[in-house]
Amino acid sequence: MADALDSLVNIIASGVENLKLAYSEKGESIPSLDDTFLPSALDDNAKAIDARRLIVAAAAQLLSTVRFPVETLQERASELHVTAALGLVVDFDVVDIIKEGGVKGVHVNEIAAQSGIDPSHLARILRYLATRHIFREITPNVFANNRISSLLLKTKTREEVKAEPIAKFDGAQLAAYVSFWADTGLKSSAHWASFIQNPEGASAPFNIAFGTTAKMWDWFKEPGNELHSRRFIASMAGSGDRFPSEIFVSGIDGNLLNKDDIVVDVGGNVGSVALVLFKAYPHLRYVVQDLDRQIEAAQEYWNNNAPEAVVSGQVQLQLHDFFTPQPVKNAAIYFLRTIVHDWPDTDAKRILINLRDAASSSSKLVIFDRLATYSCHNPSSHTTSPSEVPSPLLSNLGIAGAGFTTNIDMLMFSLFNGKERTEVEFKELGEAAGWKLEKVTPGPLATLVFSAA
Ligand SMILES: C[S@@+](CC[C@H](N)C(=O)[O-])C[C@H]1O[C@@H](n2cnc3c(N)ncnc32)[C@H](O)[C@@H]1O
Repeated sequence: MADALDSLVNIIASGVENLKLAYSEKGESIPSLDDTFLPSALDDNAKAIDARRLIVAAAAQLLSTVRFPVETLQERASELHVTAALGLVVDFDVVDIIKEGGVKGVHVNEIAAQSGIDPSHLARILRYLATRHIFREITPNVFANNRISSLLLKTKTREEVKAEPIAKFDGAQLAAYVSFWADTGLKSSAHWASFIQNPEGASAPFNIAFGTTAKMWDWFKEPGNELHSRRFIASMAGSGDRFPSEIFVSGIDGNLLNKDDIVVDVGGNVGSVALVLFKAYPHLRYVVQDLDRQIEAAQEYWNNNAPEAVVSGQVQLQLHDFFTPQPVKNAAIYFLRTIVHDWPDTDAKRILINLRDAASSSSKLVIFDRLATYSCHNPSSHTTSPSEVPSPLLSNLGIAGAGFTTNIDMLMFSLFNGKERTEVEFKELGEAAGWKLEKVTPGPLATLVFSAA
């Protein structure tokens, strides 16, 4: 045990040295948790990313090792309060109100008066989060934003939101994301047990929670659900930027394609990945397909980002349900980003068959999705080398490696009875639809390239 503790401490110590080095090489110092978030070139720096990952993996394992297990369970079992508290401070504009106080912070009575939350509730909720390093309590009952909470600011002023409540989350991707989890995510996960006991009774836990037989996308279209729909779109918009654009640029490899070859972004939402590709490969043509509200939002997105592309017809925004025959035949590439994980195997297979039916023998299918990994060493895996992961860390680096993927896996289960898949599961799914898996590139979002089998 002492050996394991020493190894974890050593991983943390050398990780911190490497992190300091990565920052000092760029003439920067490691940001303080107390400061508000400022983007930095170090956010995407490979050395800094590696160092952070190892520190977090080892620190989490160290905490689980040394903390009294009863305390760990008490904390973990109640982490729904983190979700609920984050949702509340976003929905009631608390982060935005606190911003006005700058580094001096704002007294809870003032935040309460502006947000309409009872000061006693608010003080406890903010203290609960500050105790977990989200917000800072500067003096008793005076709170300021920190590096984490400041990321939840909205882009609309409170006056603009009052004038158009439905636009509350426009342009505020993380605020929208947090609010979505605290509402749709939290409510749906409360129904896991009922769904598992009677899987024929509903399509997913979401359907039990919201008393609907509709898939979430169709439910979004029902009257009264406009904010849900708009918030989800906001939480996805710009997500092309959340992953290094290199993933999409090298995943499609447009330099190998001919002028005017067609690339189809199937279920592309506003088409944020297509925009990345359009900028990297201006010699290609693009079709962004989705359902009606998303295509409406896409119109505005492209008007703001590359209006000429739509006017010239180089980028087409197309209404298309991917369970119906694919209208774009013989495209060079059909790609699906974070789509396949939304669906159980039978539906995922139907989507891929529709693409295979439209494809030519030279068409490629590219899936960008998270790759599920085992927490233990997997001797048959081609995508992770065990030597990269120092002992005694988990093979998937725990929360630092597979944390987000396992989170999204649980969300996919909650919302759609969907799932994140392993490499083998993707290969089998492709084969069942007539696609042969040719290449897998792991990463924060894996790229799986299939050829027409
Ligand atoms: C998780 S989002 C991914 C969006 C986009 N690919 C991206 O990565 O930004 C799933 C998308 O699938 C779309 N979608 C759901 N059902 C669909 C269907 N039957 N036909 C076409 N698009 C659909 C949704 O509207 C949503 O935009």
